[in-house]
Amino acid sequence: MAHLLHIDSSPRGERSHSRRMTREFVEQWQQAHPSDTVTYRDLGHSPVPYVDELWIAAAFTSPEQHTPELREAIRLSDRLVDEFLAADIYIIGVPMYNFSVPGIFKSYIDQIVRIGRTVAFEPNATVNAFQPLVLGKKMFIVEARGDSGFQPGGEYEKMNYHDPYLVTVFGFMGITDITFIHVENDEYGGQKLSESIANARAKISALTAA
Ligand SMILES: Cc1cc2nc3c(=O)[nH]c(=O)nc-3n(C[C@H](O)[C@H](O)[C@H](O)COP(=O)(O)O)c2cc1C
Repeated sequence: MAHLLHIDSSPRGERSHSRRMTREFVEQWQQAHPSDTVTYRDLGHSPVPYVDELWIAAAFTSPEQHTPELREAIRLSDRLVDEFLAADIYIIGVPMYNFSVPGIFKSYIDQIVRIGRTVAFEPNATVNAFQPLVLGKKMFIVEARGDSGFQPGGEYEKMNYHDPYLVTVFGFMGITDITFIHVENDEYGGQKLSESIANARAKISALTAA
């Protein structure tokens, strides 16, 4: 039995392709794996705050030395990290905004990359001072884009700070088994969009049945 963490980060509702696709993924996954459990986090409609000065002070002070103020400042981050670590499998919807991830999603990343919890830091190490702590997990990312051509060899490859960023930051924490599902051409609509949706659906069916 595995536990899934399902995250959406589009601020759109029914119009959102990434939301629709993550929902279909989870529905099909549950049909194929009925005993698996799911936690849902809707960053798009319930964003988490930016980290601030107190948060930073708390994150870099050992918990035994936390004042009540610091404990409170890091409480939500601790909850988000607990939730993140409890999952075996992640299914995450992340639109492309200005060639990268939406600010809403970046805020979440800043809350869960935590020294001593998701990444270990050994300042005296001669190599690899940072060591990943989130091991043995599997991640699926639905990325929705308005255009296309961001893949390797594509016209806009060099402008793609989305997939490479997610591979880097989740890899930094230890998650290296990442599969992307792309829905492209939202801005064009018509056949270009429907073909992309059909391809994404086919990939979801294959992945959830595997
Ligand atoms: C603020 C903003 C920035 C965007 N930037 C890009 C972009 O850089 N490249 C792109 O292909 N599409 C871009 N788009 C289009 C979205 O990626 C596209 O509409 C996608 O379907 C949104 O995800 P959703 O359908 O899950 O809401 C942008 C949309 C918005 C609202």
